[in-house]
Amino acid sequence: MNIIEFKDKEQLGKEAAAFIARSIESKPDAVLGLATGGTPTETYKELIHLYQMKQLSFKQTRTVNLDEYAGLDSHHENSYMTYMKQHLFDHVDLPEDQYFLPNGHASNLEEECLRYEKLIQDLGGIDLQLLGIGQNGHIGFNEPGTPFDSKTHVIQLDENTRQANARYFSSIDEVPKYAITMGIASILSSKKILLIATGKSKAEVIKQLEQSEIHPDFPASALKLHPDVTIFIDSEAGSLR
Ligand code: F6R
Repeated sequence: MNIIEFKDKEQLGKEAAAFIARSIESKPDAVLGLATGGTPTETYKELIHLYQMKQLSFKQTRTVNLDEYAGLDSHHENSYMTYMKQHLFDHVDLPEDQYFLPNGHASNLEEECLRYEKLIQDLGGIDLQLLGIGQNGHIGFNEPGTPFDSKTHVIQLDENTRQANARYFSSIDEVPKYAITMGIASILSSKKILLIATGKSKAEVIKQLEQSEIHPDFPASALKLHPDVTIFIDSEAGSLR
C-alpha cells in the first residue's frame, strides 16, 4: 500500500482525478469502479473540469459502482444512481448505457447480485477501483466480519454506517437497513485500487489501516493482499499517523 498525503481535500481531489484520468488515457475503454459518499465529490468535480477543458473523454469508458441501497428506486433522491448522475454522469460524455449500478429495487435481490457480478466479469473486470473508507473500516458496504472471499451480496448496514449516512436523509428511520455491495473478493479482483480519505473523522481509521493485521473484522485490511493499492489522504486524515 502506497500512502500519499496531500495538504487538503481540494488538492487530493485534483490528484485523484488526475490519477483516474491517466487510467482512461492509457485505456480509453477502461472499466472504472466508482464510489459514492462525501469523499469523492471533489474528485468528481475535478473529472468534470478535465472533461470541460477537453482534456478527458468518457466516451468509451464503462463504469460500475460499488454499491446501492436496497429498497430505493434508482430515481429516489437518495439512491446512489441519483448521486452519480448529480455528481458525474450528467456532466460528462459517458453514454447512458455504459454506466452500471446494482439495482436495489430488484424483486429478487439475490439474483440481482449474481447478475451484477456477471456483468463485471462480462465487461472484462475492473481496471481501476475508486474506494472510500468507513469509520469502521468498511470498503464498499462490506461491514466488519464480511468474508474476504465474498462476491456481490446483500448486506445489513451497521448502525454506525446508517448514522454516518443519515445526514443525507430527513431522519435516521429513512436510511435503508440493507444494501447491495460488491464483495471484498470483487474489489480485490480489480487490477488497480485507489482509496481516498479526507477529514479528521477518518484519522483514526487511517491509523488503524496502517497498523492493522489482515482480518475480516477490519475489512479494509484486505487491501494489504492486493499488489497495486494507492491511498490518498489529506493532512487531517493523516493527523494520527
Ligand atoms: C460508497 C461506499 C462507502 C463509502 C464510505 C465512506 O459507495 O462504498 O464505502 O466510501 O462509507 O463514505 P464517505 O465518503 O461519505 O465518508
